[in-house]
Amino acid sequence: MKNIDSYTHLRGESLFVDDIITRQDTLYGLVFDSPKAHGKIIAVNYAKAEAVHGVIKIFTYKDVRGENQIGGIIPDEPLWAEKEVHFQGQPIAFIVAESEQIAKKARKLITIEIEELPIITTAKEAKAKGSFINAPRSFNLGDTASTFKKCKHVFSGNTFSNGQEHLYLETQGAYAIPMENGNIKIISSTQGPTSVQKMAAQVLGIAMHKIEVDVTRLGGGFGGKEDQATPWAVMAAVAVQYLKKPVKFILNRHDDLRMTGKRHPYDATFKIGLDKDFNILAYDVEFLQNSGAAADLSPAIAERTLFHATNSYYIPNVSSIVHSCKTNLPPNTAFRGFGGPQGMFVIESAIAKAASELKINKRIIQERNLLVENDTFSYGQIATQVEMKNTWNTAIKDFELAKIESRITKFNNENTLFKKGIALMPITFGISFTNTPMNHARALVHIYQDGSVGVSTGAVEMGQSVNTKMLQVAYKTLGVRSKNVKLETTNTTRVANTSPTAASATADLNGKAVLKACKILKNRLKKVASKLLKVDEKEIRFKKNEVIVNGELTALTWKQVVSQAMLDRVALTENAHYVTPKIHFDKTKEKGHPFAYHVYGTAITEVTVDCIRGVYEIDAVKIVHDFGQSMNLGIDIGQVEGALAQGIGWMTMEEIAYDKKGKLLSNTLSSYKVPDVFAAAKEVAIIPLETQGNKMAIKKSKAVGEPPLMYGIGTYFAIQNAIKAFNSKHVIKFNSPFTPEKVLISLYED
Ligand code: MTE
Ligand code: HPA
Ligand code: MOS
Repeated sequence: MKNIDSYTHLRGESLFVDDIITRQDTLYGLVFDSPKAHGKIIAVNYAKAEAVHGVIKIFTYKDVRGENQIGGIIPDEPLWAEKEVHFQGQPIAFIVAESEQIAKKARKLITIEIEELPIITTAKEAKAKGSFINAPRSFNLGDTASTFKKCKHVFSGNTFSNGQEHLYLETQGAYAIPMENGNIKIISSTQGPTSVQKMAAQVLGIAMHKIEVDVTRLGGGFGGKEDQATPWAVMAAVAVQYLKKPVKFILNRHDDLRMTGKRHPYDATFKIGLDKDFNILAYDVEFLQNSGAAADLSPAIAERTLFHATNSYYIPNVSSIVHSCKTNLPPNTAFRGFGGPQGMFVIESAIAKAASELKINKRIIQERNLLVENDTFSYGQIATQVEMKNTWNTAIKDFELAKIESRITKFNNENTLFKKGIALMPITFGISFTNTPMNHARALVHIYQDGSVGVSTGAVEMGQSVNTKMLQVAYKTLGVRSKNVKLETTNTTRVANTSPTAASATADLNGKAVLKACKILKNRLKKVASKLLKVDEKEIRFKKNEVIVNGELTALTWKQVVSQAMLDRVALTENAHYVTPKIHFDKTKEKGHPFAYHVYGTAITEVTVDCIRGVYEIDAVKIVHDFGQSMNLGIDIGQVEGALAQGIGWMTMEEIAYDKKGKLLSNTLSSYKVPDVFAAAKEVAIIPLETQGNKMAIKKSKAVGEPPLMYGIGTYFAIQNAIKAFNSKHVIKFNSPFTPEKVLISLYED
């Protein structure tokens, strides 16, 4: 089934926040943000801005009737700065005017006096100064200290992976509308409608039921709208509370880039110990997460870094620790992989380092240590239904790795100014919110009296096609035609208390709820049909709006059964609640079974480096991916391709840069490069692994949103190998992204 949005997307008819028809009395918002990264606010002068014709009001923390607080995990983030500022781009005031142009004109007239305080921009500096968000977390298995003494080989090193801008096509924004009795409706581009509702209620000082949040779809989120869609929606709501007029606020790209957080940069140090056969016996790793100026989701992201610190390998002795370091950058946030990619880059670096020192192919160490059935992860979960070696061996066999390698060797022998490199990248990613209580979802299904069906869930459509999957679950379970089912907007009034659309788990959680609701409705209608047909309800099946008995079509239709159900006063609405069974985690011991299951895969990446210029091309990425029993292979392959491109961008060309004063330098699309069609891999081949699937996944179709991003990590090591083929003296480093600039330096340093 095609993505149900493809028709309206193609015609430009799909609705995003900016397409919603506005009321004619709508006002427009704009944020005035801090020009300094750290300091005390001495004075702000709004007089000239307020005097601009068409400026209605400038809101500050003084206008907050509830709490000036939007921190989700830790209450450490004011909506608007009060006495101090902690990053450049921190909101201080909210200008509401008759038009965006007027608000922009007014913003230029605001003056501010700040007494500057010392600025920290890197995690290392923060650690040295003891500047942290919270206490460190640590996962441990076995005994690393005594094991290192027994290891034949021990290597250590350090790594850095930089941040990443989400660059959703649709920037952040919201439209808030006053309803009667002080109620407010917010149309928001958010992955977390409930977070927006909860924070708006908290800041406005009113009950949650007075706020309705509605989301049609997002023009991409990638984690950037899990927490950070909230402030803009809340600001618009504060203005509505005060002015009783609709307020629209959509960030322009420049403001969005400057004010929002990104993927966390991570510094890390590692120590890896192997025996004579290259079994990894011990791994010690310390992560320094650059969290930015407030917690946001950093503690949860730090936790997931630990969950994925050993990637696809079984290591019997692990000690891992992560520090969330407080710096004067915009609070960094969720980004596809949620800290997992940062953890995986370090173990892959450690293995690369060991291989380089031992003068063996990295693949030998990787292969020897891949996870197998019943291996224990550092967090206590026992690996089951492990497909790791299955994907690895299938990739090697089906993509004929031996042939690729000999082709590369031949090429490198024959060419002096171009060199090719190859790398294998295994992935293992845990599916579930790592915070167990978040693993729940609901679906509200109405069958209307004409037989058509409306489905509401907590899932937010953001291009990952979750609505298409929900529709597939509904029509197949009910036995109606797909055209009979409509996916409603995501709305807090219809489905309440939702977890955000995140953790790749949305289709599983919401899909299982849809399945449950539809099964109940179907059984109810079977009873009605059984009375009409005078056969046992067990004999009845619905398929494509027909009623089938013992494999034979009957004269009865779905529509007639629904009509009769109305006459019999049978409930045609069902609301189902799903919680992931079996999962648990004990934070006091840092042990448990946090994931419903894992997703596995292997990528083979080939690159060619131009050894005069330092530029490179990605020749091919060949992937064997564990989709389980995919319920929509077209969509799932699209997710792998998109995530791969995003992962390659993170590892190669996307370079976030802040200066020492905490100013974002890569603040335009000319100074921040994302992969375009020329940077994409020349060939992408994806083979779905043949497996039984996993019952914990919706229709045994495994979650797919985030895991494939980590295939991109292979690119870094493929480039590294190409450089080594040119410059044997090159001492490998682990400092991503591997921009052409760094490649050029590496090619010629000795
Ligand atoms: N795909 C598109 N097209 N746009 C997005 O914003 N977000 C990714 C992934 N795929 C995203 C996407 C992220 S970060 C997550 S967590 C998952 O989709 C969320 O959706 P799911 O839980 O339905 O997989
Ligand atoms: N993944 C993604 N988003 C989240 C998670 C997680 O594990 N926990 C809280 N938000
Ligand atoms: Mo995805 S980073 O969990 O929104």
